[in-house]
Amino acid sequence: MDKKAISSIKEQRDIGFEAFGELMSTDDKELLECLRNTARDVADDVYGKKVYIRGLIEISNYCRNDCLYCGIRRSNCNVDRYRLSREQILGCCNAGYELGFRTFVMQGGEDVKFNDDLICSIIDAAKKKHPDCAITLSLGEKSRDSYKRFFDAGADRYLLRHETADKLHYEKLHPNDMSFDNRMRCLYDLKEIGYQVGCGFMVGSPYQTVEHLYKDIQFIKDFKPHMVGIGPFISHKDTPFSDKASGTMDATLRLLSIIRLIHPNVLLPATTALGTIHPKGREMGILAGANVVMPNLSPENVRDKYMLYDNKISTGEEAAECLGSLKERMNSIGYEIVEDRGDYKS
Ligand code: 5AD
Repeated sequence: MDKKAISSIKEQRDIGFEAFGELMSTDDKELLECLRNTARDVADDVYGKKVYIRGLIEISNYCRNDCLYCGIRRSNCNVDRYRLSREQILGCCNAGYELGFRTFVMQGGEDVKFNDDLICSIIDAAKKKHPDCAITLSLGEKSRDSYKRFFDAGADRYLLRHETADKLHYEKLHPNDMSFDNRMRCLYDLKEIGYQVGCGFMVGSPYQTVEHLYKDIQFIKDFKPHMVGIGPFISHKDTPFSDKASGTMDATLRLLSIIRLIHPNVLLPATTALGTIHPKGREMGILAGANVVMPNLSPENVRDKYMLYDNKISTGEEAAECLGSLKERMNSIGYEIVEDRGDYKS
């Protein structure tokens, strides 16, 4: 494979399995640099030298699910569970607005106490107070009817990682009461309702093969999500996957670049997990084609409780109050954080 092959992936917006396998495994430094730079140029063409920010509010760490990889899974009794009140969540939005955030992401475990009425009332209040902001939900699998109600209440976007596009692999990562088909049903419902939708997966999750990753890339190509969240799998000590190897920054960066090439307009975050496995992970993510960062806006006393994986960063520059240093970091690599909803450009 040579640099021309990378231009052709860019032009075709597609990649064959062989080329994909080669890009994931090569240690040809020049080729990898070309991959990164080509992806970076594509992102610059669409979004300029801008990085969008999203204020992440982790509203609850209660979860009815028992995903084998996740630190806040139902059976982990070592979690100190919390649930933010409606007023706390709206307070986070107000604080975030002052800091310059124009997107709020309400993320949480699948907490039954957050019923549809409560969620709708929070969305409605946040939208009334901040009509110039986008509301993103990341609250897991719901009925189509619930998704529709949240949308009608004013939610703009929904993040639901598909986790893996291979059904058998999905079944190795999840208990029997969860299903790949329902996950996919949710994603298609969300899109039909009119949300800007984000899917995504973990890089280096247990049992993942290059064939699985290729399916993820094909899924992204076909589904055309507005956002794709990917980050390395990082083991959590209180899960069945505690002794599984974590994913790498290197593989994550290659995948960010490939996703940018096959789906140029996608909103692509340099995730917290990427920032957790390497101190410069987020900067490197941007330089590989990402264009979004999601600082934490949750109240400080709950941040260490939303531990999806070990050592999740929660007090440094991923924190919303440290926007100043995040801005400097992005400036140092030639990018600027902007005060903008940061919608998908079609
Ligand atoms: N390592 C990395 N990412 C994780 N997530 C959950 N557990 C882990 C882990 N151990 C990701 C999942 C989920 C998102 C909220 O966090 O992909 O969709």
